[in-house]
Amino acid sequence: MNDVPWQALTLAASSAREKAYAPYSNYRVGAAVLAPDGNIFAGCNVENASYGLALCAERSAIAQLIAAGTRIPVALVVVTEGPEPGAPCGLCRQTLSEFAEDLPIGLAVAGDETPRVLKHLRELFPEPFRGDLVRR
Ligand code: THU
Repeated sequence: MNDVPWQALTLAASSAREKAYAPYSNYRVGAAVLAPDGNIFAGCNVENASYGLALCAERSAIAQLIAAGTRIPVALVVVTEGPEPGAPCGLCRQTLSEFAEDLPIGLAVAGDETPRVLKHLRELFPEPFRGDLVRR
């Protein structure tokens, strides 16, 4: 865990957050995921006039990871508005669980250089719906 580049992940998530498209909630979120080879993939939330279509920053970042040909997230940082950091929503927890048994997740707010809080996916989402139940 000590070898996780938390500062670089926080910087990448913060920079993606600045590009968020969130004109409805004004709640901008950025996320950055670390790949096993050290590459970092970032994403931001993308809202829509049809509110339910909002894409969260975490799923946006995971999509970048997958599109680059990597399916193993090693660590994640989420940067939200302040004053308190926000943890990934339920949909994002299930999406992360598709690709990781467990995952360290750092939570930060805009302006932070490193995460304020460290969580683990398994702690946030102990019983994901499992792909092996439906895979044929
Ligand atoms: N949002 C995220 O990007 N990640 C989360 O984990 C929670 C919520 C976004 C969705 C929406 O654009 C805005 O934050 C307010 O809910």
